[in-house]
Amino acid sequence: MSPWSRQQSPGSLGPHLPRTLFLLVLFVAFAQGVIPSPKGCLILHSVNGSSVSCLSPSKFPSPIPADTIHLVVEFSNLTKLPIAALRGAPRLQELHLSSNRLEALPAELLQPVPRLLVLDLTRNALSSLPCCLFRAAAVLHTLVLKQNQLQALQASWLRGLKALAYLDLSGNRLRTLPPGLLASLTSLHTLDLGDNQLETLPPDLLQGPLSLERLHLEGNQLRALGEDLLAPQPALRYLFLQDNQLAAVAVGTFRGLKWLDMVDLSNNSLTSVPTGLWVSLGRPVRDMEDGFDISRNPWVCDQNLGDLFRWLVANKHKMFSKNDTRCAGPEALEGHLLLEVAGSQ
Ligand SMILES: *[C@@H]1O[C@H](CO)[C@@H](O)[C@H](O)[C@H]1NC(C)=O
Ligand SMILES: *[C@@H]1O[C@H](CO)[C@@H](O)[C@H](O)[C@H]1NC(C)=O
Ligand SMILES: *[C@@H]1O[C@H](CO)[C@@H](O)[C@H](O)[C@H]1NC(C)=O
Ligand SMILES: *[C@@H]1O[C@H](CO)[C@@H](O)[C@H](O)[C@H]1NC(C)=O
Repeated sequence: MSPWSRQQSPGSLGPHLPRTLFLLVLFVAFAQGVIPSPKGCLILHSVNGSSVSCLSPSKFPSPIPADTIHLVVEFSNLTKLPIAALRGAPRLQELHLSSNRLEALPAELLQPVPRLLVLDLTRNALSSLPCCLFRAAAVLHTLVLKQNQLQALQASWLRGLKALAYLDLSGNRLRTLPPGLLASLTSLHTLDLGDNQLETLPPDLLQGPLSLERLHLEGNQLRALGEDLLAPQPALRYLFLQDNQLAAVAVGTFRGLKWLDMVDLSNNSLTSVPTGLWVSLGRPVRDMEDGFDISRNPWVCDQNLGDLFRWLVANKHKMFSKNDTRCAGPEALEGHLLLEVAGSQ
């Protein structure tokens, strides 16, 4: 038992309760005199530091307790932050700024908080980031930029993120990605680029010392997957490609992905896939842990699908949306279930 929990046990307060209460009231009054609780904010103190939570504040809270480790400022109409916003909170570990209207961030914002682990900027209006924002963010492991207005990225923005494991760029307006974007992100295991407007990806996107486990590319406008795109990431386990316009997948696309446990190719424009595409996935090599989805594609169920049919029969216990996986052609088989056609061959 720690000294802290002993101090907190109600029994030990018993005989001194009135005096303790008096001291407490005095302390609160004193504390409020020194550090007035910013308007609209709730502060919780713990052994590890303070958590400050401000919902719909009219301005960025200031000052905040010097031992703040967790700061939430959400649902405000803030369009920008003061340059010194975090200067008083050198121990900050988590900063949640979602659902504001931030249009830009000061380049110096994170310099006072080198211990920051989590930065959540979901649902703002950011169209760019300042150069070098993350220069001092060597331990940041989670960065969420989901649902902003980013149209283009610069590789230099992400420099310094040595420990970044989780990067969410979904729901922006990205059309292209610059070469070398991820080159400095040596710890990345989840990359979410879903719900953007990507038509192509740089062929070297995933090169570098990444060990990606989850890759989200769903909800873009991808038409083809290059042969070598995924090859540098043999540890990939979850691959989300649904809701694109994929009409072609190169034969070697999944080669080397020995641990892939889930792939979603549903709602694309696939009429066929090349023989050999599936050879490293599922049975007979190993079961995919979580399964696969190839539904809602305009499959042409002719002899070119023979390889897929054999693979489907061996792996049907891991197949999602069987009833939505149908032939669009040839005419005689239109509307038939792929699995039925596969089983009858
Ligand atoms: C304080 O930090 C320790 C170690 O990180 C953690 O195990 C504990 O749950 C934290 N306590 C509180 C009240 O947050
Ligand atoms: C934000 O602006 C909207 C109108 O644009 C207003 O209804 C809302 O009360 C404002 N919220 C805050 C926290 O000021
Ligand atoms: C299929 O994907 C398109 C984008 O390519 C999307 O607009 C549509 O909502 C998706 N359909 C379903 C049923 O999810
Ligand atoms: C399967 O799909 C057909 C046609 O799309 C539909 O009429 C039927 O209700 C579905 N069956 C099940 C079990 O979902």
